[in-house]
Amino acid sequence: MDINATNVETIVKQVLEGMLDGKVKQSTSATSVHVPTTGRVAMLTKLEHYEIKEFPLPPVGDGDILVKVEGCGVCGTDAHEFKGDPFGLIPVVLGHEGTGEVIKIGKNVTVDSAGKSLQVGDKVVTSMIFPDDPNITMFDLNKKNIGGADVYGLLPDDEIHFNGWFADYILIRAGSSIFNVSDLDLKSRILIEPSAVLIHAVERAKTTGILRFNSHVVVQGCGPIGLLCIAILRTMGIENIVAVDGEQQRLDFAKSMGADQSVNFKDFGGIEALAKGVAEAFGGHPADFAFQCTGSPVAHANIYKFIRKGGGLCELGFFINGGDATINPHFDLCAKEITLVGSWVYELRDYATTFDFLKRAKAIGLPIQELITHEYALENINEAHVTNIKMEGLKVAIINQ
Ligand SMILES: NC(=O)c1ccc[n+]([C@@H]2O[C@H](COP(=O)([O-])OP(=O)(O)OC[C@H]3O[C@@H](n4cnc5c(N)ncnc54)[C@H](O)[C@@H]3O)[C@@H](O)[C@H]2O)c1
Repeated sequence: MDINATNVETIVKQVLEGMLDGKVKQSTSATSVHVPTTGRVAMLTKLEHYEIKEFPLPPVGDGDILVKVEGCGVCGTDAHEFKGDPFGLIPVVLGHEGTGEVIKIGKNVTVDSAGKSLQVGDKVVTSMIFPDDPNITMFDLNKKNIGGADVYGLLPDDEIHFNGWFADYILIRAGSSIFNVSDLDLKSRILIEPSAVLIHAVERAKTTGILRFNSHVVVQGCGPIGLLCIAILRTMGIENIVAVDGEQQRLDFAKSMGADQSVNFKDFGGIEALAKGVAEAFGGHPADFAFQCTGSPVAHANIYKFIRKGGGLCELGFFINGGDATINPHFDLCAKEITLVGSWVYELRDYATTFDFLKRAKAIGLPIQELITHEYALENINEAHVTNIKMEGLKVAIINQ
């Protein structure tokens, strides 16, 4: 096909529609493609019930970006909202582990939050929204994770409606952080948000000065969060990792993600025997460091017994209040001089590290993409949540065709 001034417009349009030689859509300098007038959202309208609703697509302002959603992971937080609405958001369009393609971009937006060029056709993810700072355009490492930040997928419904990634489209507004991740495949992009949680946890762990290249590390809980923790430790070169869970299938997957040994807590009669079992898995030593990734107060109480004197603990397993845990402050903390850090979501800088982690994990052969065990269409989102709650697989995702 000859390219000349008269047919350039047609070619650009065909590339955008993925029609040229049947190839994948490519980036273009066009400022928009054909945008439909309406789109669907999956709105949680009451407990355990999503409704598919159709709304007119909102206008795209000079600082806004309209994204066609390609997929979004279902997170434990979505499950909590589905079952009990602890954040009081209903009616709400959930979904915060999403990714998609830019289909319309405001004239003021030329770069992503890291300064990388951003245009129609690029694949993106969002991180936090800073309502107090609508002019944020470039990567600002000082933007913190505590206070003042929202995320798409946990916003109250409003006249825009396209506020979460469980939808056909999402409107990214000025003041949002957004990243051009066109160099990552769809499944990796869906795993960016949960991976960033663990990148942050590992950064918090490093502040103790205890987590080192040759540390013996326990990861307690092998859901998606614990498994990503193991993969990150492995990409850092840490090899002495013991995974603890009660589900054998998850423990087996933990080994493929980089754990050296696994311990099924259900095989032990009590915490003393279990602690001995964990130490034996390390060849007779208690752990130097432990990550708590379960959401279980009992697990929090147990984990101190796995750690050596002078060791460290990162507690990240409670995004939702799971109740109180009972520990013995004398034996568990003081007498052992344990250094304890908590970890809460992520900072913007963790996103940049996450992109590198995902590429490195793939390069060393960790089966990161296999974490997504179930895929559902948007209209089957209720079923997707039931599967997620039953813990039948690992990560459940909504994939738009
Ligand atoms: N800190 C943060 O910012 C943050 C962010 C996201 C998620 N989280 C939290 O991380 C936790 C894990 O998330 P997930 O999606 O992997 O959940 P999940 O429910 O899929 O996995 C939890 C795992 O812990 C295991 N487990 C339960 N009790 C245990 C015990 N006593 N010992 C060992 N293992 C035990 C379960 O069998 C399960 O495999 C959740 O509670 C969530 O709230 C925290």
